[in-house]
Amino acid sequence: MTTTDTGSARLPSGEVREDYARLCAEIAHHDALYYQNDAPEISDGDYDALRARLDALEAEYPSLVTDQSPSQRVGAAPVTLFSPVTHRVPMLSLANTYDDDEVVAFNDRVRKFLGLGAGTPVAYMGEPKIDGLSFSARYENGVYVQGATRGDGTVGEDITENLRTLSDLPKTLRGDRLPATLEVRGEVYMKKSDFEALNEQLAANGERKLFANPRNAAAGSLRQKDPAVTASRRLSLYAYALGDIEGAEPFDSQSALLDQLAAWGFPVQSLNRVCEGIDDALAYTRDLGAKRPELDYDIDGVVFKVNRMEYQERLGMISRSPRWAVARKFPAEQVETVLERIALQVGRTGVLTPVAELEPVRVGGVMVSRATLHNEDELRRKDIREGDRVIIQRAGDVIPQVVRVLLDKRPASSEPFVFPTVCPVCGSHVVRLEGEVALRCTGGLVCPAQVVERLRHFVSRSAFDIEGLGHKILETLFEAGLVRTPVDIFTLEERNRAPGTLQRLENRDGFGKKKVENLFAAINARRAGVALERFIFALGIPQIGVSTARLLALHYGSLEAWLGAMQAALDPGSEAFQDLVSIEGIGPSMAADMAAFFSEPHNLEVIQGLRDVGVVVQDAQRPTDDGDSPFFGKTVVFTGTLEKMGRSEAKARALERGAKVAGSVSKKTDFVVVGADAGSKETKARELGLRILTEDEFLALL
Ligand code: IVH
Repeated sequence: MTTTDTGSARLPSGEVREDYARLCAEIAHHDALYYQNDAPEISDGDYDALRARLDALEAEYPSLVTDQSPSQRVGAAPVTLFSPVTHRVPMLSLANTYDDDEVVAFNDRVRKFLGLGAGTPVAYMGEPKIDGLSFSARYENGVYVQGATRGDGTVGEDITENLRTLSDLPKTLRGDRLPATLEVRGEVYMKKSDFEALNEQLAANGERKLFANPRNAAAGSLRQKDPAVTASRRLSLYAYALGDIEGAEPFDSQSALLDQLAAWGFPVQSLNRVCEGIDDALAYTRDLGAKRPELDYDIDGVVFKVNRMEYQERLGMISRSPRWAVARKFPAEQVETVLERIALQVGRTGVLTPVAELEPVRVGGVMVSRATLHNEDELRRKDIREGDRVIIQRAGDVIPQVVRVLLDKRPASSEPFVFPTVCPVCGSHVVRLEGEVALRCTGGLVCPAQVVERLRHFVSRSAFDIEGLGHKILETLFEAGLVRTPVDIFTLEERNRAPGTLQRLENRDGFGKKKVENLFAAINARRAGVALERFIFALGIPQIGVSTARLLALHYGSLEAWLGAMQAALDPGSEAFQDLVSIEGIGPSMAADMAAFFSEPHNLEVIQGLRDVGVVVQDAQRPTDDGDSPFFGKTVVFTGTLEKMGRSEAKARALERGAKVAGSVSKKTDFVVVGADAGSKETKARELGLRILTEDEFLALL
């Protein structure tokens, strides 16, 4: 990348970079859940909001983007759960078209390529486009030997044993004169009825995460570590293509191939039909579109394949798709229903997502009773109200959405939806911070919807660093009602020892005597002393990362001083507020987050609770003049982009060595540390003849 023009692009501060890194990690996490585990945790709307924030940051600070950025990747790398299989014949994909005109254009291209005159129509095999995941099954002398997913088309995953559990898959082929090797390709899918039954069963087993649609369910069921799980799921398949084949006569046409697949024992779609020319193909599209709602499986379009193999061979392929086939996608299915109520869901990060509770309807053949409304802006933009008749749609893998309101059917009594000012789960107040679309519950430390996540943060390495309190253990303790707030961690031992305790920890699954002893020892060690910066970070105040927590700790020195200042800073007109935002690196948006946190009484109760159970917060190590810090008592200004550390880290390190960090250059400045692309501050420093340090010189002096 060349960066000759850096004039217009702003350079990111350390805080922005931290934010960006956090966002990247979050997106990578959700990508992995979606693509690798087939178990998305957040709605598409929330995911899109994350991507939108990422895009905005990258647009403002293009220098943030690296090869590793989520914006530079598609999907997620294949999981390592299965061994790779290199396809002998690549598994292609199809070019998509979205209307009849594009299909007509496809037909024109085919005819032109083949040089056919007006009197010679091209016949197409029309096939429903099954919404599942493609597979390749390999047979040697008629015996099934290997199954693979498509993967990236060149390398897929070995799913031999999982695929074997499908009763639809022939394990030995019927007939004689079988090819020496044969690869059959097609689609694994889950019937809508089986999908609904599966979700019902999962829900009955107390499973919190259900599958969003039949395709996710099929993918999730097929890609299981344990084939026994796959076997317990009802999966189906259709065959529609060949890969590698040796020792057999070539086929004349796609229809002959489909007949042979059926003769070998594969399920072949009964709705496949040869279309004699383009008009017939368009008629087939309409027929199938009309049948779509009644089918017990999802189809997202039709596929047209030039029927004659000789033509197919001549047409060949462009990039990764055949020139002889095209997919004609159907629009998302839409239906009308009543929006009965708008509920608010609180996510594990405290974001409140409005959800429409609907009069249940069948859309795309699946019963739908809820739809996401994304966020407040979206709700207002579409003017969605309780009691409205609405059009909803299920588009492919998307959770149902409300497309629009039928305003002419709106009840006269209808009123705009009023967002609550308190969290529906915990009653803490709700904020909407500047520049964010989401409403957030501020009761992070107490809100049951967020608490496991917050507890996890609280005990994490950079926070209280309590070993032995991993995610699983926390979840168990939470579910058993033993730990619901950070304070509970410190009373756990006492409660465990108390007479009358029904089930002691050491007798629970996954614990044991030694483990419990170690856990209590780790907890008590932290009770005896935790650094102020760790304490601040542990509270999980939005935007307050490790380095900001350190800046705050160094600035205020003690928990007492910090708490006092934060209370006083709730008034933006106060001196305390001025003092807070004057800390280099703490902007108004962070100050607002802190204010939101400290104006929630639940949070103050937790802090008080921690002190009551004897947690000792150590004062920040105020630097003393040891005689060898050139920065002691000196004023330092940072400008430009540092390469080796973030801005906040650099500041924190200067502060630790006794420096004062200022935001602007003046006669009183002792050092100006200049990173890449520094601007007016550097110029001014030179004018004033101040001591200028490069980043390396600064590090050396530290
Ligand atoms: S043929 C050479 N036929 O659609 C082309 N694909 O968008 C290979 N699909 O990856 C595909 N039904 O997973 C073909 N009757 C059908 C299909 C079908 C569903 C899927 C398949 C493929 C994707 C391409």
